[in-house]
Amino acid sequence: MEYKESKGNVDTPNKILKVNHAGEFGATNIYKSQLFISQFFMKDLVPLLESFLEDEKRHLNIFWTEIRARNGIRCKSYWLCGIGGYVMGFVSSMLGRKGIMACTWAVESVVVDHLQTQLRYLERKSDQRAYDTVISILEDEKNHRDIGIEHGGRNNIWYAPLRFSIKMFTEGVIRFGMR
Ligand SMILES: [Fe+2]
Ligand SMILES: [Fe+2]
Repeated sequence: MEYKESKGNVDTPNKILKVNHAGEFGATNIYKSQLFISQFFMKDLVPLLESFLEDEKRHLNIFWTEIRARNGIRCKSYWLCGIGGYVMGFVSSMLGRKGIMACTWAVESVVVDHLQTQLRYLERKSDQRAYDTVISILEDEKNHRDIGIEHGGRNNIWYAPLRFSIKMFTEGVIRFGMR
């Protein structure tokens, strides 16, 4: 997706911050529901999922602080991201550890692609604070994505429909938020 000048009354850098904030809310819910299921059936995954959740909570705060500094409000996609996050986390963990890792890879790879496109856009605009805010989370999201790959989340053919649905939803919700 390309990031262009907004025609509405919220400019694109502010929209980016809001969409990312909503996305972080969704991400916290993914890892919360995966943790809920994992504590019964996949205890060994708990420390990893807890570390992901900590990262996402920190990201959520980073974006909210910057939005508030600009007197912004939540994105219209906030609750959709939240509910979607719960559902994706729950469904993926019902499919076992490979499901969890397929979900991680699918979500985080869409996120990393968007962050990189946003950064290219923000570099051209002179909004250094928005740029710094977005870049501050990039390494964490790449790390989440790569852990998904290491645990076999990218290639297993049986999980292709799950990955596809999650990617479509994540992409869709970002586009909706940016409209
Ligand atoms: Fe995040
Ligand atoms: Fe993440």
